[in-house]
This record gives sequence, C-alpha cells and structure tokens, in this order.
Amino acid sequence: MKTIATINFKGGVGKTTSTWALGHVAAQSPQQSSLVFDLDAQMSLTQSIALNEDGNPFKNFTDWYEKAIAKKKTIFDALDEFTKTSSTFNFGINHDFIYRIADRYHFVPSVEDLYWTELEVWDREKVKFFIQRLLEKIRNSKNVPEYNTVLFDCPPSFSLLSYSILSCCNLVLIPINPDFFAAKGLNLLLSTLRARIEPFPVPKIGVFMNRAKPPGGGSSKRFSNETQRYLDDAKLVVKKVGTDNGLNAKVFETAIFDRVGMKRAIQEGMPPAFNQQFSSLWQEIQSYL
Ligand SMILES: Nc1ncnc2c1ncn2[C@@H]1O[C@H](COP(=O)(O)OP(=O)(O)OP(=O)(O)O)[C@@H](O)[C@H]1O
Ligand SMILES: [Mg+2]
Repeated sequence: MKTIATINFKGGVGKTTSTWALGHVAAQSPQQSSLVFDLDAQMSLTQSIALNEDGNPFKNFTDWYEKAIAKKKTIFDALDEFTKTSSTFNFGINHDFIYRIADRYHFVPSVEDLYWTELEVWDREKVKFFIQRLLEKIRNSKNVPEYNTVLFDCPPSFSLLSYSILSCCNLVLIPINPDFFAAKGLNLLLSTLRARIEPFPVPKIGVFMNRAKPPGGGSSKRFSNETQRYLDDAKLVVKKVGTDNGLNAKVFETAIFDRVGMKRAIQEGMPPAFNQQFSSLWQEIQSYL
C-alpha cells in the first residue's frame, strides 16, 4: 500500500483535482485498487463527487452519505473514537465508511465537523497517530479490498491532521502553478517540513506543474516562456532547498496543462487528454516510489 498526500499551503493550485485524477488513473491498471480521502473541511472533493453534470445531487452518493452520518461512520467519527476512548480503537472498517465510486476506486468523504478538529479537547499527541492507525485497520480489514494506492486530499494549511498524514505517507505530492508564488511557496514548504514533522522521517517529495500553458503560435517548445521560467525557478528551489535540508525531492517531468475540461472532470468524467497526462504523471510517481 503506497500512500500519497497532496499538499500545498497555497490554495487553488489543483490539489483536489489532481488527487482525484491520480486515484482514477491508478485504478485503471489491472488488479489495482485505489482509495482517496477528502481530509479538507472545505469538502471540495466530496461536493464534486456529490454532484452530477447538471449540478444536481448525485443520489447514490448523497443517500449513502446521509446514512454514513446517521450511523456515525464518517472520518470525524473515526477520529473521535480513536482519540476519546481509552485504549482500543474499535472503529469498524466497511463500506458504510468507504464509498465505492467505481469497482476499484473508493472514497472516504469529508465532513464539516473537520473544521473544528483543532478546537476539540482531544489528546493532541494521539491525533498525530490517527492516520497511521486508521491505515493499519484498513489494511487488516476483510470488508474492503487491498488498496494499492491511498491518496489524501489535504487542506491548504498545516493542521494536526496534516501532521498525522505527513508523518506516515510515502510521498508528499506538491502541485504548483506557473506563477510567482510557486517558487516562494515551495521554499517555505520544503525548508520547514523536516522541523514540522519531527521526530518522523521526511517522506519523498515530488513536485509537478499544474495549469501549464502551451507555447504560442507554431512553436515547438513544450511550454509558454512564462510557464518554462516558473518551472525552472521551481527546479532551482527544489534542488537548493532539498540539498540544504537533506530531502529526497524532485520535480516531475510531466506537467498538466490548463484546460477548461478539467474544471468539470470530477463530475463528468476524465477527458481523454487529461487521462493521458495524469497517466504519465502516475508512471513517474510509481518509478519514484
Ligand atoms: N489543469 C487544470 N486546468 C483547468 N482548470 C484546473 C486545472 N487544475 C485545477 N483547475 C481548476 O482550478 C480550481 C482549483 O482547483 P482545486 O480545487 O483542485 O485546487 P485546490 O488546490 O484543491 O484548492 P484548495 O486549496 O481550495 O483546496 C478548480 O476550479 C479546478 O477545476
Ligand atoms: Mg482542495
């Protein structure tokens, strides 16, 4: 089971979109199952999955979700059970907790209660081990498949929950956009990561460009000059800060282009051009892991 956390402290860079898309392409390989968690209280992924292409609630999911809430089988209930009870973690793993988007592509939605996680009077030290223990339970459960890939869509901030993911994942995946903030944000994230997740070792780090712009006219270059410049800046930062902080970090060669089709892909299904781009990114990720 490989675990990947998509994170960037900057909002709107494509964390949710790419987490969903990678889960989707990962499940396309024969015999592979993937599980995606929405751990962001903004619930973007959960809401996208709940809506069909007309913007109407997608009944299968919304019916299932209401039941999960009523039966206390949400991610918040799992966290509550883990932190509040004395010793054993008795949260049953089954499909009341994990939704089946497709045969081999499964999903744990977010809930609004996650907003208040930081304010709950939970044992903060215990929260740090939550995801690790939850993954153990999922791995040992006979009620759900053996997942080859688990992806986490993280909020654009560093919370106790983020800590609990980053301290036990195999890869921190960082989408960046071709703008001035990309290199600045990477610098901040990479230079503080080690200190933030101590005493745990830092996972591998992979950065990729999302919303890349194509070159103008009949140019044979891969990207517009602007995208190329920001990509080069990001590579320099990853090399320098990675070396200074002893990190295993790289920028992937595959970039995801900026296309309107991606906006509605979660509701309508993945456009073939994106499927190709994310499959290529997925292959790079797999060889890196
Ligand atoms: N390659 C792309 N081409 C076009 N639009 C994109 C692309 N990637 C993401 N978007 C759009 O950009 C917006 C932000 O994307 P997304 O919600 O995935 O970002 P995020 O990093 O998860 O945001 P947040 O920080 O709020 O969680 C969405 O409207 C999404 O559809
Ligand atoms: Mg998001």
